[in-house]
Order: sequence, then C-alpha cells, then structure tokens
Amino acid sequence: MNILVTGGSGFIGGNFVQYMVDKYPEYNIYNLDLLTYAGDLTKHKEYENKPNYHFIKADIADRYKILSIFNERKFDYVVHFAAESHVDRSISDPEVFIRTNVLGTQVLLDAAKEVGVKKFVHISTDEVYGELDFDPDTFFTEETPLQPNSPYSASKASSDLLVRAYHETYDLPINITRCSNNYGPYHFPEKLIPLTISRVLNDEKVPVYGDGKNVRDWLHVYDHCTAIDLVMHQAKSGETYNIGGHNEKTNLEVVQTIISALDKSENLIEFVKDRLGHDKRYAIDPTKLEELGWKPMYNFETGIDQTIKWYLENKDWWEAIINEEYKKYFDDQYQIN
Ligand code: NAD
Ligand code: TYD
Repeated sequence: MNILVTGGSGFIGGNFVQYMVDKYPEYNIYNLDLLTYAGDLTKHKEYENKPNYHFIKADIADRYKILSIFNERKFDYVVHFAAESHVDRSISDPEVFIRTNVLGTQVLLDAAKEVGVKKFVHISTDEVYGELDFDPDTFFTEETPLQPNSPYSASKASSDLLVRAYHETYDLPINITRCSNNYGPYHFPEKLIPLTISRVLNDEKVPVYGDGKNVRDWLHVYDHCTAIDLVMHQAKSGETYNIGGHNEKTNLEVVQTIISALDKSENLIEFVKDRLGHDKRYAIDPTKLEELGWKPMYNFETGIDQTIKWYLENKDWWEAIINEEYKKYFDDQYQIN
C-alpha cells in the first residue's frame, strides 16, 4: 500500500509520518513537502534509512510535477497536511495561503481523481467554524456552519469546500477532519505553546495577546495522529469528523502552567496588542469520532508535561530554528525584547 503524506516535514505531518512508519512497516509512506520555513528534514534523521519511508521534495501547487509524481507512484491513500498554517502570518501576508491551501489542494484533488485513489483524507481545522462565545455549554459540531474569520481559516474552509465538491461531483472518496489546536514534539516555535516554552527557558518575555482570556481547546499531536489513522481506515467516504479532547484553557492559563512547570516568574508575561479579528473561543464536540472508537491518550496536564520534557531534551532541534530569519519575524511581529 502506498500512502502519500503531504506536509510530512512540518509539525503534525511530521509526527504522523513517524507514527505511520512505526505502526505499519508493510505500508510505503511517502512524505511530500516543499520544505518552507515550517518544514525540516532533521526530525526524520532516524527514519531516513527505514525501507518504508520515502521523501519527495515538491510544491503541491506545481500541477505538472504533482501529476507526474501521482502517475509514477500510484498512491492508494492521500493524507493532506501541507499548508500555510499560522494565523498571524496570514494577517500580514494572505496571498501564499490562497496559493498553497486552496490552489495546492485543488491540484492534489485533480491528481487523486486522475489515478483513482482509495481515499483522500483532508486535514482541516476547527477554525473554519469561526468563533464561539464564552458559554461553556456551546461546542463546534460537524453541522456548525462555516464562518471563518482569518485569511488562514478562510483558505482552509475554501479547501474543505473543494474537497467536498470533488466528492459530490466526481465521486472521489474523501474524509475531512477538523481538529482543535495541537501541541507536542516538533511544534514550530511561532505558535503559542512552543514559543512560550522556548522563551521561558531563555528567560525572555512571552507576548500574550489582549487580556489573555481567549480560549483554545488543546489536543496532543499523538492523539490527533491516532484519530486520523482511525478515520483513514474506518470512516465511511464523504464523512467529516471533528477532533478534540475537551481540554479548554485560556491563553493566560496555558502560559502560567508552563511558567510554573519550569519554576520561573510570571513577570515574564507581557500583554501585547491584540491580534486583529482574534477568535474568542474554540471548543470541539468529538462525539461522532468517539462513536467511531477514538479515545485520546493525553489530557492537557499529562500532555503538557510530556511536551515540556521533550523541549528540554531536544534543545538542539528548536535552538536551530531560532535563527536570524526567525528573530526578524519575531521582532517585526511583537516589538518586544
Ligand atoms: P506546519 O506549518 O508545521 O507544516 C506545514 C508543512 O507543509 C511544512 O512542512 C511545509 O514545508 C509544508 N508546505 C507548505 N507549503 C507547501 C507546498 N506548497 N507544497 C508542499 N509542502 C508545503 O503545519 P501544522 O501545524 O503541522 O499543520 C498541518 C495541517 O494541519 C495544516 O493543514 C493545518 O491547517 C492543520 N491543522 C493544524 C492545527 C494546529 O494546531 N497546528 C490544528 C488543526 C489542523
Ligand atoms: P496560535 O498558537 O497561533 O494558534 P491559533 O491562532 O491557530 O489558535 O495561538 C493560540 C492562541 O494564543 C491564540 O488565541 C493567539 C494566542 N497567542 C498569544 O497570546 N501570543 C502569541 O505570541 C501567540 C503566537 C499566540
């Protein structure tokens, strides 16, 4: 069985590639990635020589190249992670989000249709639903209307609609998954949790947007991988699944938890100007996925402990990312020391 994983050098795709290579030695796992600023191959050093791991450098929006790769490899499954994924970058430069997330997905759909894949699993996000208010009894379900608020979530919602349309029009077998915020090993330090861990470890200020009361529903990346594995193998074509483990936290709670675990001072917290169009709250109702048989292994407390430990033990990986390009991004974004 040939499985194409797009974006397998990024955070979640990278964890998924390693999970699949380890769990299914009989499958050939092809990681196709452009290696943008968010992708790196060093995370797969120990996988390079495994007979069931393969790497292809390519741009998902390069139609000619993608079609020729699909015709050569005859993939059975596509699990599509490749995307521009950071909301703040989508606010300052939306165009690449449309190119990669919308056009790139359409190119992959055409290629999947041409070779007749068994299933196209599209990895999307709960952010396509927009925002919830702070009423703790409200959740996103699969029936919640799509109301994306950022250029990032609008580009992901657009790609979801294309995936749905290829199923309805061409009968392409598909699933769409919409997961809440992930955290865990190999998370790029532009996102809240790895940014906080790396900066607190260096005794640097942590920027918290607005009043820090916005809520995110956090899921350990390992639990996201097990959910995708289940959907890929067991879900009926055409179905959409929300993924989340009921771990809602305010951003301030997340930052305070990390500071306390590392035994540092809350003086490191710096409240900064709020994000434009900042979604108030995300929270997932995962009932449909639970009915398929999924159960997360981590809650926030056990997951954040594992993650902090990983960042302490893998300083080489994230310190290499905090290079001149990253520092320039950080300074332009935050104007704090
Ligand atoms: P990431 O930014 O860490 O990784 C994205 C990967 O895609 C990188 O390796 C990058 O090199 C690659 N890529 C970008 N443009 C490409 C192109 N044109 N062609 C080929 N490869 C390209 O992202 P992530 O956080 O791992 O997210 C992966 C997917 O999961 C995304 O589709 C995202 O929308 C979705 N998602 C993320 C979260 C989250 O909390 N991070 C939650 C739910 C869903
Ligand atoms: P982020 O990790 O960027 O994920 P997303 O925007 O996809 O939810 O941000 C998580 C939350 O943390 C979000 O409410 C914005 C907030 N945030 C900060 O307060 N400070 C920061 O430096 C970052 C990156 C995010």
